[in-house]
Amino acid sequence: MQLNNARILLTGATGGLGQELAQQLSAAGAKLLIAGRDTARLTALTAMLGSGHSNVRADLTRPEGIAAAAGAARDFGVNVLINNAGIGGFGLFDQQDWSTVADLLATNLEAPMRLTQALLPTLKAQPQAAIVNIGSTFGSLPFAGFAAYSAAKAGLRGFSQALRRELADTQVAVIHLAPRAIDTTLNTEAVNALNRALNNNSDSTETVARQVVAALRRGDGEHHFGFPEKLFAWINGFAPSLIDRGLASKLAVIKQHAPSR
Ligand SMILES: NC(=O)c1ccc[n+]([C@@H]2O[C@H](COP(=O)([O-])OP(=O)(O)OC[C@H]3O[C@@H](n4cnc5c(N)ncnc54)[C@H](OP(=O)(O)O)[C@@H]3O)[C@@H](O)[C@H]2O)c1
Repeated sequence: MQLNNARILLTGATGGLGQELAQQLSAAGAKLLIAGRDTARLTALTAMLGSGHSNVRADLTRPEGIAAAAGAARDFGVNVLINNAGIGGFGLFDQQDWSTVADLLATNLEAPMRLTQALLPTLKAQPQAAIVNIGSTFGSLPFAGFAAYSAAKAGLRGFSQALRRELADTQVAVIHLAPRAIDTTLNTEAVNALNRALNNNSDSTETVARQVVAALRRGDGEHHFGFPEKLFAWINGFAPSLIDRGLASKLAVIKQHAPSR
């Protein structure tokens, strides 16, 4: 897709990956409608992006937030929706309050589905359009200590694939991107300590944003970022018992770092 003159609703724009994506997309010539919950950060980022960009304050776990974001996106004339907003959720499943699990599903799965549904008529009316869903390696390589997060991201992957197949006779591309760990504050100190203990790789926001922009330009359907994570995700698709065994050897370390209720 041509990014010059693309009109993009970017959710989670005030976060680590979102801010970097906003800057790279704007540098590529796109006009952005940025969404988040923090007015001060939205205003500052919009000012930094310069003229022609706009923002909308919206809590995407609330129906009025979806309505506000979708209404602003229609007025802005978006042809690209990037579902990037998300929250993390490290913890053993029996130690997580249901409100934490519900928040993970609402933010990471339900909100992108609702926003997509609200904007599909607008996107279908554009000569060229795309929906980009920011998933996670854990959506294809579900990880101990991240059961609810993995469930939400696996759901987002399934939603993206089914919708891509459903929209195959339209000009709306559905792109699902699965980064491995990224250096942002989504990861708590416990997650960072776990990643260090397991030697898990973590990418800069600059690197991941560059890959997202490239994938959008190419119109990739699916893209997993990082090796060996993409290999393990692939193996998990046909031989999950191999991954079960590999992760069993890490379980004691995961349990040691997991926060308790
Ligand atoms: N960091 C990683 O290791 C990693 C790895 C793989 C995939 N990802 C995915 O990458 C995406 C971006 O994550 P990040 O690392 O940039 O996280 P981040 O720095 O914590 O930013 C999260 C963004 O989501 C927004 N958000 C959270 N809850 C929201 C809600 N209820 N309504 C509206 N906006 C909400 C936040 O807005 P506020 O400013 O209002 O809080 C913020 O802009 C997420 O989908 C995440 O799952 C992250």
